[in-house]
Formats: sequence, structure tokens, C-alpha cells
Amino acid sequence: MRAAVPTVLLLLLALNTAWFVVYSASLGVQGLVADAPGTVSRVFFEDALVANAALALHMFAGALLTIGAPLQALPILRRRWPAVHRRSGYVLFGLAIVTGPGGFVYILIKGTVGGWWMSLWFAIYGGALIWAAAATIYHAIDKNRPQHFAWATRLVILAVGSWIYRMHYGIWYGLTDGLGSNSAFTGPFDQIQVFAFYVPYLLVAEVFLRRRLRRRALR
Ligand code: HEM
Repeated sequence: MRAAVPTVLLLLLALNTAWFVVYSASLGVQGLVADAPGTVSRVFFEDALVANAALALHMFAGALLTIGAPLQALPILRRRWPAVHRRSGYVLFGLAIVTGPGGFVYILIKGTVGGWWMSLWFAIYGGALIWAAAATIYHAIDKNRPQHFAWATRLVILAVGSWIYRMHYGIWYGLTDGLGSNSAFTGPFDQIQVFAFYVPYLLVAEVFLRRRLRRRALR
């Protein structure tokens, strides 16, 4: 019974991200093909081909990464179909390599709606995502299972981070009608959210991973 818990949690996670995955991928496609990208979303501009394309590609790759990462971690896939797990692992790495730099290019050219503070934390997020994807692959090739597991855990958290960000906003607006938040993303809630969608989750995971490593060492 207890063995089924990770599978159920990962499936629930993947299922819950589905709306955001569809939203992000379709926004990315619309941003790429639209004659007037500025009318699609405030994140696109009429005169910024490179920034628009980078952001659109990052939305499309990020969408696949968001749902792909929890599915990739499913125990049944890892144990029963290791060859599929291996191949899709490289695909996810490729998606992270498009998602992170796509966001970086946009930040460098246009910045973010929330200014330097938001740009800084989004850039750190992108760096962490690329780092975690590279470390996950590296330790898989190195056949270091505990480290591969640890980095894969961090990667799943970062991969679903953009969805967590929207969930935080949805819940907060539902509860408080947007207290401490505004359309320029300069309210106290907005300024905390730029890191609160991944840093606390990574810290909780760290406690769990350290306990797991200690238990393994004792055994
Ligand atoms: C992991 C999967 C990711 C997905 C699915 C995703 C998806 C999205 C979507 C849908 C938007 C448009 C927001 C809106 O509707 O207003 C967006 C904006 C943005 N994303 Fe991502 N993203 C991901 C990861 C990242 C990463 C790693 C970075 C950092 C390098 C990043 C940087 C940005 C930036 C700079 C914007 C524009 C922010 C603004 O000015 O409003 N994203 N993303």
C-alpha cells in the first residue's frame, strides 16, 4: 500500500498541471504564429521578434517539461521500462535546455513585468532548472543512483515550479482578492512570490533527501 504513494502523488501532480500545460503550449504557439503578437498577450511585443520567439519556445518546451517530469519519475517507468525512462530522460534534458535559455534571452532583451527583482529570481530559477537537469543526467550516466534520485527530485520541483507559481496566485486571489498584489507585480505578495514558488519546496525536499541518505548510510 505504502509503495503506491509516490505513484499516486506523481500522477495527481501531472494531472493537476494539465490545464497549465495546455495554456502554456497554446500561448507559445499563438505567440509564434500571430501577425500581431502584442494582441495575444502582454508578454509579446510587435517589434521584438527574437524576444517573442524565445519566450514562445520556452512556453512550449516548458509545458512539455512541466507534465513530462512527474511522469518521468513514475516508479513503474523506472523499473519496468528503463530504456524508455532513459530515452525520455534525454528528451526532458533537451526541453530544460530550451526552456531555461528561452527565458534568459527574454529577460535580457525585454526584462520582466515586475522589474529587476522579478528578473533576478526568474533568472536564478532558469539557472537552477538547467543545473538540475544537467546534474540528473550526469549522475544517471555515472550510475550514482542516490545522487541521480536527489537531482531528479529537485528537477521535478523546478519543472512544475511555473505551475506552482500560478497556483499560489489562484489560491491567494481566491482567499484575499489579491491582497498585497497588483498588475505591475510590485506588491509584497508579488515580491515574495518571485522566489516562493520554488525555494521553499527545494528546502523541504532537501530535508527529505538528507534523511533518506542518512537512512541508507546506516543500512
Ligand atoms: C518550467 C516550465 C515553464 C513554463 C511552463 C513556463 C511558462 C510560462 C508562461 C505560460 C508564461 C506567460 C505568463 C503569462 O501568462 O503572463 C511565462 C512567462 C515567463 N517565463 Fe516562463 N515558464 C517556465 C519556466 C521558466 C523559466 C525556467 C524561466 C527563466 C529562465 C522563465 C522565464 C519567464 C519569463 C521571463 C516570463 C515573462 C515574465 C513577464 O514579464 O511577465 N520561465 N512562462
